[in-house]
Amino acid sequence: MQKLEVFGINKLKGQIDISGSKNASLPVLAATLLSDKKIYLRNLPKVKDIETMINLLRSLGSKVKFVKKNLIIDNCNQNKKFAAYKLVKTMRAGILVLGPLLAKFGYAKVSLPGGCAIGSRPIDLHLKGLSKLGVQYKIDQGYVHAVAPRGLKGSNIRFSKISVGATENLIIAACLAKGTTILNNCAIEPEIKDLTSFLIKLGCNIKWIAKRSIKIVGVKDIKQIRYSVMFDRIEACTYLIAAAITEGRLKIKNVIPNVIKTEIDILKKIGVKIVTKKKEIKVIGNKKIKSINIKTAPYPGFPTDLQAQFMVLLCKADKESFIQENIFENRFMHVAELNRMGAQIKIKGNKVLVKGNITFAAAELMATDLRASVSLILAALTAKGRSVINRIYHLDRGYEGIEKKLKKVGAKIRRIN
Ligand code: EPZ
Repeated sequence: MQKLEVFGINKLKGQIDISGSKNASLPVLAATLLSDKKIYLRNLPKVKDIETMINLLRSLGSKVKFVKKNLIIDNCNQNKKFAAYKLVKTMRAGILVLGPLLAKFGYAKVSLPGGCAIGSRPIDLHLKGLSKLGVQYKIDQGYVHAVAPRGLKGSNIRFSKISVGATENLIIAACLAKGTTILNNCAIEPEIKDLTSFLIKLGCNIKWIAKRSIKIVGVKDIKQIRYSVMFDRIEACTYLIAAAITEGRLKIKNVIPNVIKTEIDILKKIGVKIVTKKKEIKVIGNKKIKSINIKTAPYPGFPTDLQAQFMVLLCKADKESFIQENIFENRFMHVAELNRMGAQIKIKGNKVLVKGNITFAAAELMATDLRASVSLILAALTAKGRSVINRIYHLDRGYEGIEKKLKKVGAKIRRIN
C-alpha cells in the first residue's frame, strides 16, 4: 500500500495551478446520461473518483474516451440501467446515475452507496423527491429497484433538509420529466450552479426563481455540446491554508476568488494576507494567527469539506478556537491523529475545542477520509522531521497530483510503497 512521506518544516513558495472540481465533475458526468449525442468535457481532475464514475458510465453502455484534453462521452447506444455495487460502493456519487436513468428509461437498478467514514449518509431525500416525480421503488438486497410506469412527471417538491446530492439528482431527473418541476430548499453550492450551467447548455429549460428554488420545464431534445467544469474550490482553499500554516507565499491560479469569499474572509480575519485578482489569489502566511469560532453550514456558509484543514491552522492560533460540525455526524476522524502529533483538540458532541499555540511533532499517521487525509499533510508540513501518512488512497480520490504540486513549491514530500 502506498504512503506519503513528509519532511517538515518548509515555507511553501511559488505557484499552484488548481484542477477542475471533483464535486462538480461527478454530477456533470452522471447528467451526460440524459443525452444520446456526443458531449465534450474539459477540466476534469485526474483523480480516482472521476475514474470510478467513468467506469460506471462505461458499465452502463456509454462510450468514453480521452482525446487530448477532452473527455468525449458518446451515449448514442447507451442502454443499460444497472449500476453495480462494486462501482457504487467506493464512491457515493454513484447514486447520481439514478435520476438520469429514470428520466431516460423509466427504470433503473442502482446499488445503495452504503455508509462511510464521515457518517451514515442516507439517500431518503433522493428517493422521496423521485417518488414525487412518479417513481415507485423498493429496496432489495442492497439495491434500489426503481420504475416510473408512466414516465417522470413534473411536480412541486420541497426538500426537508438541504442536500447537495439530492438537489443534483432531482435537477437532472426533472430535465426530461413531462411538465414543470419546482424544487424548493435546494442546495446552492457552486458545483450545483455549475451543473445547471451545463444542463442549460445541453438545452434543458432551467431557471433559478429564488435563492433556493429552481424551476425546470422538461424538454425532449438534448444538444451536442462542449463544457469545461469549474475549478476545485476545496483544493484551492487547502493550498491557501498550506501557505498560511507554513508562513509561505503562494500564487494560486485558475480560480475565481469570489466563489470562495467566505473562506478568504475568514483567513483575512485571522491574520493571513490575501490579495485577489480576477483569476488568481496571492497568499502570504503570517506568524500570528488569531483564534476564531467556525460553524459548518450549506453554501454560502463555511464548508464541511474544509473543516479538517482549518482545524490544523487553528492549532497555530494565539488562543482557543471552537469548530462546530453541522453537516455530518462523524467528521472528526482526524482529531485523534492530530492529537498524536501534539495537538490538543477536545471533542464535545458536534463541537471541538482547539487549543492554540501548538507545535506539531512528526509521526506515523493513518488517513481516514479524503479531507482528514489532507489535514494530516498540512500538519506534517509544519512538524519538524519525518511524518508518514498511511492509507493515502483516500487522498487520491480527490486531490490531483498533490505531492507533485506541493513538491513544486518547496515541500519535501514523496510517495513510497
Ligand atoms: C456532497 O455530498 C459532497 N460530495 C461532499 O463532499 C460534501 O461534504 C457534501 O456534499 C456537503 O457539502 C459530492 O459532491 C460528490 P449532502 P452529499 O447530501 O451530496 C444528509 C468531499 O470531501 N442527507 O449534502 O452526499 C447527509 O447525511 C465530500 O469531497 C440525508 O439525511 O452530501 C448529511 O448529513 C465528502 N438524506 C447532509 O444531509 C439524504 O437523502 C448533507 O449531505 C441525503 C443527505
